[in-house]
Amino acid sequence: MKVTSYRAGEAGDFAFTEDNAKRAAAAVTHYPEGRQASAVMALLDLAQRQNDGWLSPEAIEYVANTLEMAPIRVYEVASFYSMYNTKPVGRHLVQVCRTTPCWLRGAAGLTDTCRDQLGIGLGETTGDGQFTLVEVECLGACANAPVVQIGDDYYEDLSPERLSALLGDLKAGKEIAAGSQTGRQSSMPDGGAVTLTELPERAPAEPGRAVPGPEFGDPVSPGPVSPSGEGA
Ligand code: FES
Repeated sequence: MKVTSYRAGEAGDFAFTEDNAKRAAAAVTHYPEGRQASAVMALLDLAQRQNDGWLSPEAIEYVANTLEMAPIRVYEVASFYSMYNTKPVGRHLVQVCRTTPCWLRGAAGLTDTCRDQLGIGLGETTGDGQFTLVEVECLGACANAPVVQIGDDYYEDLSPERLSALLGDLKAGKEIAAGSQTGRQSSMPDGGAVTLTELPERAPAEPGRAVPGPEFGDPVSPGPVSPSGEGA
C-alpha cells in the first residue's frame, strides 16, 4: 500500500508515548514521500522498547496503523528478525550466538552454562521474570568469539566461567562491564598490538647471497619496474 502521510496509529491499549511519537515521526522523515513504510523496523524497535522488550499484537497493529500497512506485513518483519520478540521476555534477554565461529570457540558450553545456572531451557524465562535464554545466529563480532548479547550489549571472549560470573553478578543486581571479558581492546590480537611494532628477526645472509631472502610477513614488494620506471 502506498503511504502518503504520517499519522499516529491507534490500536488496542498500545500507543506511543509523546517522546516515542516524536521519534517515530522523525524516523518516517528519513524516507521519501510514499515510502514511509520503510520506517517499519525503526518503529518496531521503538514499540518493543516501550513495551517491556516485546511486541504484543496490539503494538504490531499500532505500528501497522501508523504506517498504513497491513498488520500481517508488519508481523512478517517482526517474526523474521531475531532482534524482535513476539512473546514476553525477561528483564535480561540472554542471546547466545551459535554460528560457526562462536560454536568453534565453545558456544555450546555457554548455552549449557546458562541452562545450568538459570535453570531454564532455550526460549524460556525464569520464574522471577529476570532472564530469558535464546540462541541466535551471528551477532557480527566473530573476531571476539564466543559472544553473548545481554540486553543491548555484547559480552565477548567468553568462557563458561566468565559467563557464569556475569550471570551471577546480574542475579545479584550488580552492573556488568560489556565488551571483551579478557580485557583486550576491541579486536586486537590476544597477545597485544604487535603487528606494526615488532619486526621479525631476519636470518643471517646465506653464503653467496648478499641480502637475506624475504621472510613471510615482510612488506610486499612494489613488483617489477619497467625500463620507463613505471610498474609493470
Ligand atoms: S559467529 Fe558469533 S559473532 Fe559471528
